[in-house]
Amino acid sequence: MRVFVTRRLPGDAVERLGEHDVEVWPESMPPGRDVLLARAPKLHGLLALLTDPVDADVIGAAPSLRAISNYAVGVDNVEVAAATERGIPVGNTPGVLTDSTADLALALMLGIGRRVAEGDAYVRRGDWRTWDPGLLLGRDLHGATVGLVGFGRIGRAVARRVEGFGCEVLYTSRRGGVGLDELLERSDFVTLHAPLTPETRGLIDAAALRRMKPTAYLINTARGPMVDTNALAAALHAGEIAGAALDVTDPEPLPGDHPLLDAPRLLVVPHIASATHATRERMADMAVDNLLAGLAGERMPNCVNPEVYER
Ligand code: DGY
Repeated sequence: MRVFVTRRLPGDAVERLGEHDVEVWPESMPPGRDVLLARAPKLHGLLALLTDPVDADVIGAAPSLRAISNYAVGVDNVEVAAATERGIPVGNTPGVLTDSTADLALALMLGIGRRVAEGDAYVRRGDWRTWDPGLLLGRDLHGATVGLVGFGRIGRAVARRVEGFGCEVLYTSRRGGVGLDELLERSDFVTLHAPLTPETRGLIDAAALRRMKPTAYLINTARGPMVDTNALAAALHAGEIAGAALDVTDPEPLPGDHPLLDAPRLLVVPHIASATHATRERMADMAVDNLLAGLAGERMPNCVNPEVYER
């Protein structure tokens, strides 16, 4: 069967697709929608990345498509409803990246609160002349109140970590916790751990940022569009919050000349929460397992639209 893998993946998992007719996109930039549309008519399997728009047109252009396997836990790049309508299973990679993502959320909290990047830049500029009692004072993570927006696998993994720092943990979730307004008002670190859905898109807007304490930080390792970028830039410029540390942005990638980068007290990294050798290799294994199962007409081990199997 014909399979398109939209990027080279870490490790050797893709070799396990060997029984199929596999094309791996060789370039470092994503193939783009036109390439997906051009490949679609002959495809049986698609292993896509979060940078690939697998929308209704792409799915519609692929009459023989049997399986979509996304190399991510988030599937907001895939129009899942369109796949479900066609009975096509969509796979994702939950679980394996939980701890790596939670680790990075902690790194961002510590990095922005303790001004790590600023300190590094200060030394490299040659500005470090003496030990100074007032130099680069920051905020402690230990003892802080950490508000988790979303309390799924990753949110709970962050909670376990910050409890080790003696933090008080607040969370919002569909099943309990506190209301978002209370969480925003009480937290020293507000950290986002929900999927991008119509309900969470733009959740952290100007009003939400105004509810946060002026001493509080916003951390985002979830999806960029959960935060209104312009409102965040304005809040940072106005000193409405103490800072923000982002692994994900809107737009993504964030161009080097984007106005958000002019905002003070901002730490940004390029969507690397799952970027460890071990995690990215495990994600590749899971994505390949999902694809192989889908191509064989078997149940995917991790499928976001299992209703396709109920038909
Ligand atoms: C995901 O899996 O959704 C992350 O954003 C990338 O690993």
